[in-house]
Amino acid sequence: MFNLEERKKAVDFSLGKIRNNIKTFRETFPSAQSENYTYLPVTELSWTEGFWTGMLWHAYEMTGYEELKDTAMHHVELFGDRLEKRQGLNHHDLGFLYSLSCVAAYKITGDIKARDIAIGAAEVLIERYHAKGEFIQAWGDIGGKENHRLIIDCLLNIPLLFWASEETGCEKYRDIACKHLKTTLDVSIREDFTTYHTFYFDYLTGEKLKGVTHQGYSDDSCWARGQAWGVYGLALAYAYTKDETLIPIFNGITERFLSNLPVDNVPYWDMIFTEGDEPRDTSAAAIAVCGILEMQKYIQNEHYKQKAMDMLNALYHGYLTGEESNGILTEGMYSRPEGHNPECNIWGDYFFVEALHRLENVEWKLYW
Ligand code: GLY
Repeated sequence: MFNLEERKKAVDFSLGKIRNNIKTFRETFPSAQSENYTYLPVTELSWTEGFWTGMLWHAYEMTGYEELKDTAMHHVELFGDRLEKRQGLNHHDLGFLYSLSCVAAYKITGDIKARDIAIGAAEVLIERYHAKGEFIQAWGDIGGKENHRLIIDCLLNIPLLFWASEETGCEKYRDIACKHLKTTLDVSIREDFTTYHTFYFDYLTGEKLKGVTHQGYSDDSCWARGQAWGVYGLALAYAYTKDETLIPIFNGITERFLSNLPVDNVPYWDMIFTEGDEPRDTSAAAIAVCGILEMQKYIQNEHYKQKAMDMLNALYHGYLTGEESNGILTEGMYSRPEGHNPECNIWGDYFFVEALHRLENVEWKLYW
C-alpha cells in the first residue's frame, strides 16, 4: 500500500529536488534523460522541455512558493519565442511542450499571453494533419514517404486541440483531434488490446499500411511506454469528449497494461518481458498511474485504483534517486533499440509528480 506517510515523504522528496533545480534550469531546461543520473542543460531542443515547466507548476500549486511561479512564467516567454521562431517544432509533440507550460500557466494565473501562445501551438500542430488517412503526422518534414505515420504517443498531444476548441469556440481543432483519435484507435490497438507504437499510411492515398515499432522490442511486441500513452491518452480523450465508446477501449488497454506487469508492479521497457533481467521503464508506470487516476473521476474501478497505488508504492520504495542525483525516478528507459541505458527521464519525473499532486488534491485542474 502507498499510505499517507509514504505519500508525504514522496512529495517532500520530489519538491526538494525541484527546488534545488530552479536556479540551474531557469534560462535552460533539463535534458530529456540524465547522464549517470544527472540532468544536464539541453543542448538541442526536443519534445521534452515542457515537462520541467509542468513540474514547476505542480510544485507551485502544492507550495505557493513564488520563485516557482516566476520561473515557470519566464518559461512561458521562452516557449512563446520558440513558437514565433518555429524552433525545434518540426514534430507533433506540441502538446507535451505547450499544454504543460502555457495551458497550465493560463489555467493557474489567467495570463492571456500564455493562452494565446498555446492556441498558436495548436494552430501549428494541425498543420501536420493529413486529410487522406485522417491522422496527425508524428515526425519529420510533412509529405515524405518515410514520415507518413502516426504514433500512439500523440494521444497526449491532442488534448491541446480539444482545449483550443473549448477556449476559442472554433471547432476545427476538435474535429482534427477526433479524427486523429478515431484513426489511432482503428490502427494502433490490436485485438488483444496490446498496441503498435507507430503505424504507416500510403503517402499518396492515405491507405493504412502497417504497424511498426520504433522504441519497442519488435513490431508485434508491446512497448511499455506506448501502452501507457494509450492508457492516459484514452482517459484524457474521455475527459474531453465523454464518448462512452471509449470506456471499453480504456478498460482493455489498462487491463492489458496491468496484467503484463511483473510481480513487483514496475513494467519492463517492453511488455513482451514479464520476468528476468531486462531493464524497466519506471516512466511507463508513472504515466499509467496518471491515466488510471484521471479515469477514476468518471468511472470508479477499485482494482485499477489499487494497482495504481501499488505502482506508486513500488516506485517510491524501489526507484527514487539518491542525494547526488538531480532527478527523481531511476530506471526510466528512453529507447532501448537506440542503445540507451536506464536513467532518469524528465517525463517520468513529471508524471510521478503529477500523480502525487493528483493524490494531494483531487480537485487538481488538468494542465492537459
Ligand atoms: N514520446 C516519445 C517517447 O515516449 O519516448
